[in-house]
Amino acid sequence: MAEVDLLRRLPKTKRDIRARFLAKTRERVAIACEFGEMYFDGPREYGYGGYRYDGRWIPVAEDIIRHFGLKAGNRILDVGCAKGFLVKDLMKGCPGLEAFGLDISEYALMRCESEVVGRLHLGTATTLPFPDGSFDAVISINTIHNLDRDHVISALREIERLAPGRGFVQVDAYQTPEQRELFTQWVLTAKFHDYPQGWLGVFEEAGYTGDWNWTVLED
Ligand SMILES: C[S@@+](CC[C@H](N)C(=O)[O-])C[C@H]1O[C@@H](n2cnc3c(N)ncnc32)[C@H](O)[C@@H]1O
Repeated sequence: MAEVDLLRRLPKTKRDIRARFLAKTRERVAIACEFGEMYFDGPREYGYGGYRYDGRWIPVAEDIIRHFGLKAGNRILDVGCAKGFLVKDLMKGCPGLEAFGLDISEYALMRCESEVVGRLHLGTATTLPFPDGSFDAVISINTIHNLDRDHVISALREIERLAPGRGFVQVDAYQTPEQRELFTQWVLTAKFHDYPQGWLGVFEEAGYTGDWNWTVLED
């Protein structure tokens, strides 16, 4: 169990936190939380402002493959895979790797990359429809914080059940009150977020023994 920065080679996204804060309304938050067209491909006030494949996940996929020592014939699951960009790049980075994804968004799955058709499942992180120990690694990037605390624990237990000690989760966190303030101005969909200490308590409560990292907003 360790903190590991598997996203260190992902290009940083430019965020106008003030503009998001000023534009945020209860209605926009509700629409974002549907994880539909507006969240992925609508204006920035609702989420990504256009979620398109551009190869940025390729180096992240390489680091994930190296970190878990994955090879042809192994199975990896990406929980919260959206349109399957990372699933595609994991397969490209390690020919023969059996990469799969799961997401709650039918909108995203219906617009997946052609290389991953048939590999992505519609479902929720709290109930992963796979047998115990059936994956060599399970990753979940910027996804489980979209659940409330009890469901975060269920999701962590599911990841642990599928790949004991072979998980990686990246979640929203903050290290200082200033970062917390920035985060609350920016956030649309996250229901549970905390300081690292709080998250570590949640990992322990869930019996999660995999790896993790924090997504921390900075000005
Ligand atoms: C911030 S996006 C992250 C997507 C991708 N992992 C990435 O880092 O680009 C959050 C994703 O979580 C998915 N999601 C939200 N709630 C979920 C749930 N309960 N179970 C599975 N996926 C969920 C959303 O549909 C969306 O694709």
